[in-house]
Formats: sequence, structure tokens, C-alpha cells
Amino acid sequence: MKIETLCAGAHLHKKLTGRPLVTISYAQSIDGSITTRRGVPLSLSGRESLRLWHRLRVCHDAVLVGIGTVLADDPQLNVRLVTGTDPQPVILDAKLRFPLRALALKSSKPPWIITTRRLNSKKQERLESRGAQVISLKKTPDGWIDLAYMLKYLAQRGIESVMVEGGARVITSFIKARLADYFVITITPFFVGGLHVIEKLMPGAKQSKNINLDKARIIGNKRYGRDLVIWGTIE
Ligand SMILES: NC(=O)c1ccc[n+]([C@@H]2O[C@H](COP(=O)([O-])OP(=O)(O)OC[C@H]3O[C@@H](n4cnc5c(N)ncnc54)[C@H](OP(=O)(O)O)[C@@H]3O)[C@@H](O)[C@H]2O)c1
Repeated sequence: MKIETLCAGAHLHKKLTGRPLVTISYAQSIDGSITTRRGVPLSLSGRESLRLWHRLRVCHDAVLVGIGTVLADDPQLNVRLVTGTDPQPVILDAKLRFPLRALALKSSKPPWIITTRRLNSKKQERLESRGAQVISLKKTPDGWIDLAYMLKYLAQRGIESVMVEGGARVITSFIKARLADYFVITITPFFVGGLHVIEKLMPGAKQSKNINLDKARIIGNKRYGRDLVIWGTIE
């Protein structure tokens, strides 16, 4: 499968599963770090792989990040380096910490901010006066947003494909919940020794031979300038 056709099966996928197709996408250093430490932005991708990233945004209906990424990176979550339609930004923000000056509020499609808080707060009013939509959904026992429920909600609103861009906690949650279908990972030629993308996937495992490793299948790889991009499926 070519990377350009990643989203081709999204319509059928939604029909069969009732939820959008989910692509996990992030950039990491050779040693698997996505930044130096939590809360600190680090730009890893080179120009060519960034263009690919923007092409991937065009082919997905929505782009999703956690509030940790918004607070650290202040991403615009739109398409700038290629021509194409902006995806719908979706933010996981249980405690409604989304900043009123976030750049994502200036995109052509204002963000959908998913929270677990009760609606009609002052903060919600302020965010909505800037165009955002605050949506309160079901939470998990640990107080985070229930991802399976949230994906069904997105499907009901016509979203057929979601590009999950980070950060570490959100990606770990999607993998743990087995709600990720594809991965696209940009490997950049640096050693960082920082925050790893997957956190405690197998807590308590003492012996590696007893671990049931989550399976991923690499389908393709290609050099984009100085970076290597690999993509595939998560079983
Ligand atoms: N290299 C890359 O490609 C890349 C991409 C993105 C980010 N990053 C880096 O990653 C770091 C941010 O990662 P992070 O792990 O701190 O934050 P994150 O994954 O962006 O956001 C995590 C937060 O989202 C909220 N949340 C709500 N429901 C959740 C759920 N079901 N699962 C997980 N989180 C949920 C929680 O905060 P509440 O409880 O407040 O809701 C949680 O703390 C930054 O330093 C950023 O620079 C790197």
C-alpha cells in the first residue's frame, strides 16, 4: 500500500466498525524520543517529511491531539505546506485547560474540544465565543475521555478518518485501547534521550518471554530528505 492511499478505505472502515479509521502519526529521533522532556516543544521533522505530514492532514477528516500537546507546542493543526482542505481539529481536554489564545482557534475550522466537564461554564463560553465547540463526553474510571465512545461520536458527526498526532499519553491510550489502525512514523537522524512516545504499555511484565507483544506490520518505507518514514498497520 502506498502512503498516498492510506485513507482510501476510510468509508468502508466506518461502515464496518462504526468508528473512523485511526492513523497514529508522530516524529521521533533514532532513539525513540518525541521531545526532550514532557511539556517542551522539539521540532524534529525536516522540510520534506513535514510536507508529507501536511499531505496526510489533507487526506484525514480530523486531526486529534491531547491538551498536553496544545500547551507545549501550540499547534495550528491546519494545512499549510501543500494545497488541500484543513481537517477538523479535535482536542482531548478533560479539565478544559485549552488556552484562549491557542493558535488552533485561528484555523479555518475551529477546534472541537472534548471534555468530561459539565457544560455551561465560563471557560466554555469564552472558548465558544472564539469559535471553538466544547463537547462533553463520557469519561473513563481514571477521569480521561473514553476513546471508543469519542470515536463513535466523531463517526456520527461524519468523520471517517482521524490522524492522531500525539502526544505520548494520547498515543499510548489509543494503542492500549486497541483503537489504532495505521501508523506513520517519521524517524529523524538525531539522538535525543528524551520522552518516549509509548509509556508503560506492559506494566508489571517481569520476563520478556511472557509478554504478548502488540503486533504491527510495516507496509512501506521511504526517505523524505534526511528523514525515514515508515508506515503500516496495527493488529
Ligand atoms: N514528536 C512528535 O511528533 C510530537 C507530537 C505531539 C506532541 N509531542 C510532544 O509530546 C508532549 C506532550 O505529550 P503528553 O503526553 O504530555 O500530552 P498529550 O498526550 O498531548 O495530552 C495528554 C493529556 O490529554 C488529556 N486526555 C484526555 N483524555 C485522554 C485519554 N483518553 N488518553 C490520554 N490523554 C487524555 C489528559 O489531560 P487532562 O486530564 O487535562 O484532560 C492528558 O494528560 C509535548 O512535549 C509535545 O512537544 C511530540
